[in-house]
Amino acid sequence: MNIKHFVFILNTIDKSNFEKLIKSISKENFKVYFFLSEMDLIFFEEYKTNDKIKALRYNNQSDTSHTLFEQNNISPEEAAFISDDPKNIKYFRKLGVAHCLGIGDNPKDFYHNYADDVLDHISKVKLKDIYNWIENHLEYEKWCLVYKHFDKEEEKLRETLTTVGNGFVGHRNAISFIKADNDTHYPGTYVAGLFNKVPTKIADREIFNNDFVNIPNAFLIEFKFDDDSENWHSKNLKLINCEHRLNMKTGEATRKMTLEHQDGRQVHYTCQQFAGMHNMHILGHNIKIVPLNFEGELKLSSSIDGDIINYGVPRYRKLNGHHFDVKQTLADKNYINLKAETTASNVEINLCVYHNNQLAKHSEPVLADNTAKLLFKKTLEKKQGFELERTIYIETSRNQFHGQKKFVSYDTSLKKSKAAWSKIWNNIDIKISGDRYAQELVRMQLYHLICSASPNNTKIDAGITARGLHGEAYRGHIFWDELFILPFYFKNYPEVAKSIMMYRYRRLDAARRHAKKNNKEGALIPWQIADTGEEETQEIHYNPMSKEWDPDLSRKQRHVSISVAFNIINYYKHTQDDDFLSHEGGEMLLEILRYWASKVRYNQSDNRYHIYRVMGPDEFHEKYPENPVTDGGIDDNAYTNIMVSWLFSKAVQFLPKISTDVKEKINFSSKEDTHNWNDIKNKLFVSIKDNIIEQFDGYFDLKEIDWQLYKEKYDDVGRMDRILKSENDSPDHYKVAKQADTLMLFYLLESEELVSLLNQLGYDVENPEQFLINNFDYYIKRTSHGSTLSYVVHAYLLDEIPNRDDDLCKWFHYALNSDFDDIQGGTTEEGIHCGVMAGNINLIYNCFAGIKMGNTIKLNPNKPKHWKNLSLKIKFQNINYRFEITDNKIKIKADSRHNMKVRYKDKVSDFLDSNQIIFSLVLV
Ligand code: BGC
Repeated sequence: MNIKHFVFILNTIDKSNFEKLIKSISKENFKVYFFLSEMDLIFFEEYKTNDKIKALRYNNQSDTSHTLFEQNNISPEEAAFISDDPKNIKYFRKLGVAHCLGIGDNPKDFYHNYADDVLDHISKVKLKDIYNWIENHLEYEKWCLVYKHFDKEEEKLRETLTTVGNGFVGHRNAISFIKADNDTHYPGTYVAGLFNKVPTKIADREIFNNDFVNIPNAFLIEFKFDDDSENWHSKNLKLINCEHRLNMKTGEATRKMTLEHQDGRQVHYTCQQFAGMHNMHILGHNIKIVPLNFEGELKLSSSIDGDIINYGVPRYRKLNGHHFDVKQTLADKNYINLKAETTASNVEINLCVYHNNQLAKHSEPVLADNTAKLLFKKTLEKKQGFELERTIYIETSRNQFHGQKKFVSYDTSLKKSKAAWSKIWNNIDIKISGDRYAQELVRMQLYHLICSASPNNTKIDAGITARGLHGEAYRGHIFWDELFILPFYFKNYPEVAKSIMMYRYRRLDAARRHAKKNNKEGALIPWQIADTGEEETQEIHYNPMSKEWDPDLSRKQRHVSISVAFNIINYYKHTQDDDFLSHEGGEMLLEILRYWASKVRYNQSDNRYHIYRVMGPDEFHEKYPENPVTDGGIDDNAYTNIMVSWLFSKAVQFLPKISTDVKEKINFSSKEDTHNWNDIKNKLFVSIKDNIIEQFDGYFDLKEIDWQLYKEKYDDVGRMDRILKSENDSPDHYKVAKQADTLMLFYLLESEELVSLLNQLGYDVENPEQFLINNFDYYIKRTSHGSTLSYVVHAYLLDEIPNRDDDLCKWFHYALNSDFDDIQGGTTEEGIHCGVMAGNINLIYNCFAGIKMGNTIKLNPNKPKHWKNLSLKIKFQNINYRFEITDNKIKIKADSRHNMKVRYKDKVSDFLDSNQIIFSLVLV
């Protein structure tokens, strides 16, 4: 995309230099826009006469951007932006402009706000540098997350966002020469599926937590020179400059820094790392140190640090964080090795690091408790570099590395890993032109999903955690978030989706035991699982506002089994994998249905089935206020009831497809087991008043919350539960939801399907669109969005409601930004949110591209106006489709022949005419 517009917002004007610049811009064929204060407008009156130059009144940023981009119909990516106000830089960068240039003498402020470049004076602006950047760097930058200054407050967030991973291992990209501390640095490493459950005495009781193990740190590098008494460390260093970059295309993270010691010695430090996508056991690490203004003997130690505990989440620090014992450390010439074993799950962890061989003559092993360490000594001239390449192997007794461990040069492994990433990007990439920012952030979501579960996962026994392999939040547990996550994999890597569902299958016995313990039949899928498949939801949780440990009743969220069943059915639709449906998938479905058949209670007085004492997705309503905690849950959660009815309705279709072997194995009798299924499906209870579905029985009687009051009192009201509890109140009293609950029904089912399901249940609702609008408008007002999942659901529904496209874009932006900006104030530094990330991608597929795959391909694109071109791939029933959407055209290309039809508005066309596998449609 070429640059066509220059936009200026300047608070101070240096007239002569500015005029020179403007003249040079207007000589070429560009449009120039100024946003100036009223006084300056007079000053620039003369430019108004020039057709190509517009001086506009500057009130505020959103007013400005609206005036500029909407009214002038400009695509942000065709504009470069220049400002002397850092806050404007951030704003315009997020609008998607191609280049942001800051003018000022404090580059940090501008880089903090994501300027691409900073110059100290307007006289230094050279147009050719801007063109050059756009021509030669913009495409590359759209693959990168870049931080050009260090920010103590944001460091942990950036470590998370630049994590390297391959589905098996995730390593937070912390500075290699700094160990974990209380609030700034946290070099955690996690292996998919590796947990350890240990007790802690807290609030007078012994509680067990099954934690995601932070394994020994194989990335520790420490260094000093000559007789330095201590290693160079943030405490004795000043950072002169730095660049922290994640290249998402190649999966490589780099840091470049110039460090200055208290005594003035300067060193240039470079660190590169990646997690092998080609071989999940290999990670590459490369360090280069160059003394800039002195010479001396470098003493650099390369370690695998075994003094590691789980310490990443401040709220959990009172819990036992000791999860492994070091069993053995070795160091020899060019390699170090550390073996450890988890204290309760008894998994052996084996870490080896090989270094470039030619350095062996400079190395000596160091004896250190719990740490495998090699010390390298080398005298360096001024500006002479020392480079240490490290090949790291990570394996466990569950997933061993097969092959010979040896040193492989950093570049050689990186090349292989890059090739594997390139294949992945070829499948998953979503290309957006017209909005550079959305492009970068969309790739960021895709990147982190693949770090969390990749094609490597088909070789291991691991599910997908709610928070990636990026941190310890939620202890690496697996929740219902798969409902949001798996659709991404269905469309790109169905085999990965299957392996994630197989993780559930292998734990079906635990779910059966759980049902039995609760006096129910079939399988009761626990709300949170880790490695064994047992219920791992904590019994008490910490409220940072009240500083109290409160009971946690969230385990009552039985709806998690609906998401497992929904995914199996959805997976089948995408793949027609009969084998999975007739065996593992089918077995899970039957056991889930058996559970629900034993959970529902028939009430003669209303001739309805009811579901008592469960929680819906809205975690604020844990129980009825008058009930003790031992009686958690609420009755007839509409989401649960309606989805259970949906599930029983689907049973007719998939029952015959399930193999008789499976039915025999689990003693499933088509007569006895299913005797009341039809009845349940038609008679589940739902309460609907004035076209609004009641979230649960008694919800309509609760008090309204005074939002204004709380917004004035607290900066962030997302976690109203914590706020109310800290004020000795409870959300149980109010119509206030943490996240979409009733609205989840509209997220999963099309409004027409939902309405006909309700009709089948005997409820008189009509007009699906109005029904959606009424429920949406009712619940959005009563939701605090304390979970990022809530954003994607609301955005998704806005696409279905006429004339709400501006709101749709606004909510999509909240969701897209949520991890990047850590909008929940400190949660992303503890791990990404896979649910919202995948939810964003689904939103692009389903709403912006408007593609719904089924018996026909339904098209209803609704992309943001400034996205000029949107292209993506979808795999459906073994055929790869590429879609390209512009303002007036959709092009679909399939990689093989098929009989698919395409529906756009009311028109259905054959995909294939004669021998074509390309389909083009003009949008009206
Ligand atoms: C949400 C749940 C979600 C969990 C893990 C919670 O904050 O309320 O719906 O499953 O986070 O992402």
